[in-house]
Amino acid sequence: MTRLTKWFRRDNQVSGVSMPTGSLPQHVAIIMDGNGRWARRRGLPRSAGHHAGMRGMRDVIRASDDIGIPCLTLFAFSTENWTRPETEVEYLMRLPEEFFRTEIDELVERGVRVRFIGDTSKLPAYTRDTVTRTLERTTNNQGMIVTFALNYGGRADVLEACKRAAGEVAKGTVGWDEITEKGFGEYLSTGDLPDPDLLIRTSGELRMSNFLIWQAAYAELWFTDVLWPDFRREHLYQAIHDYQRRKRRFGGVK
Ligand code: FPP
Repeated sequence: MTRLTKWFRRDNQVSGVSMPTGSLPQHVAIIMDGNGRWARRRGLPRSAGHHAGMRGMRDVIRASDDIGIPCLTLFAFSTENWTRPETEVEYLMRLPEEFFRTEIDELVERGVRVRFIGDTSKLPAYTRDTVTRTLERTTNNQGMIVTFALNYGGRADVLEACKRAAGEVAKGTVGWDEITEKGFGEYLSTGDLPDPDLLIRTSGELRMSNFLIWQAAYAELWFTDVLWPDFRREHLYQAIHDYQRRKRRFGGVK
């Protein structure tokens, strides 16, 4: 059975929203927000919201792969999230272990290449082990690239890229003139990925929150009041349909 016949949904419609075809975003980035509020509305601890958020992740990865989106990037933990209560941080740090334990076989079967951006060296050892194991299992895959931003901050990403570029210039391996906008992008953690075309944020918040601030300069933004644990493939489809109706001008005229 091929990958597509096994996973592709034949009905072509989910909750009345059709599967997008035609010109797809090459890179979708998502700020997964609203886990805490989802839990509070149910009288549950915040951790329950984070746990339920894994369902949304599973659904968007499957949906993105089914329709053929080449790159998906998920904001799972920001450099600012360390200020949360210790118990919540620890809970979040343990979720990758559970997520990849249950998902890794399907990810491998789909040919998904998993990557991580952000300073993973600062993660607890048990999270780093999961990162290493997941990279090992998926590194030779040839399919969709799914990037998890873990301990990621856009400003830190830009600053690191500046330091690396300046280091090369100082060594004389790269000239000042070679540090162009395009060339600089290659020093970022997403260096070999296309810039995100579509940036989604859930839960009604209208902010970038330090996510891919350089890379998303021309991303189409799509906001929804849906809380992340309730986000499903039909919401992704809606976002893509809206994206396909946008006229992207990149500062020019059409
Ligand atoms: C934001 O909601 C969500 C996060 C900070 C964490 C997102 C993490 C996951 C969905 C699971 C991570 C799992 C893996 C495998 C990386 P919030 O807590 O800020 O919600 P609130 O604004 O309603 O309080």
